[in-house]
Amino acid sequence: MNSNPPPPDLSGLDPAKLPIHIAIIMDGNGRWAKRRLLNRVKGHEKGADTVRTVVRTCRQIGIHFLTLYAFSTENWQRPKVEVSALMTLLKKYIVSEKNELHQQNIRINVLGEMESLPADVRTALNDIISLTRNNAAMTVNLALSYGGRAEIVKMVREIALEVQAGRLAPEAIDAGLVARHLYTGTMPDPDLLIRTSGEMRISNFLLWQIAYAEIFVTPTLWPDFDREEFLAILRQYQARERRFGKIPEASPPQ
Ligand code: FPP
Repeated sequence: MNSNPPPPDLSGLDPAKLPIHIAIIMDGNGRWAKRRLLNRVKGHEKGADTVRTVVRTCRQIGIHFLTLYAFSTENWQRPKVEVSALMTLLKKYIVSEKNELHQQNIRINVLGEMESLPADVRTALNDIISLTRNNAAMTVNLALSYGGRAEIVKMVREIALEVQAGRLAPEAIDAGLVARHLYTGTMPDPDLLIRTSGEMRISNFLLWQIAYAEIFVTPTLWPDFDREEFLAILRQYQARERRFGKIPEASPPQ
């Protein structure tokens, strides 16, 4: 975050109806690079620029929570060179953005198995997490070594241990308790889930939390995703009717 970007064009956006929590599956870095006959890593590098743009835009318009799917539990199976390049890129991003993110009152948080990340990446993450822990304008969750099923398994184990120890009655287990044992804890669920690159999949992302999220899939590859398209999705989101399984209140009886 080096230069001061112009304020985003908020025309057509209702500030009172913005999503509180946006989650993004950042897909298509590899294809972006392949189309240009470049190494896949170049796609991830360009993707990191998009991360900057989206974080800035969210902060400018007043989004409270942004969750980015940066590395899944399945991504460990990619070639070693790509995994290692992604880890290096991640560390570079954290180190170079740290001060700006802190100045912008942004809290950085990690969702996932942090203990499986390389030691230097963990150190950089712990550093930015503790530096920004009291920041309140916006929380950016980096989903790293994250898998929705593994998160659910972790939650079940924690709750089972509580029951086994006699500290929790099975009847006391409810949706709120389950949510508190997920990585997102007391954060509100995502209102909006965006996936780039056109794939119609959830890919093991926030399986519990996206129960009522509005889903938008764009064919744009993540490195090409820009502020204008992001704001256009927000306008479409505001035009949707969120019913949470209920009947719209305004509709007349049939
Ligand atoms: C998916 O594209 C993207 C990833 C697995 C990594 C996402 C990483 C970044 C956007 C950059 C670094 C992140 C931060 C937070 C600075 P893909 O490789 O699966 O693309 P493909 O489906 O076209 O092959």
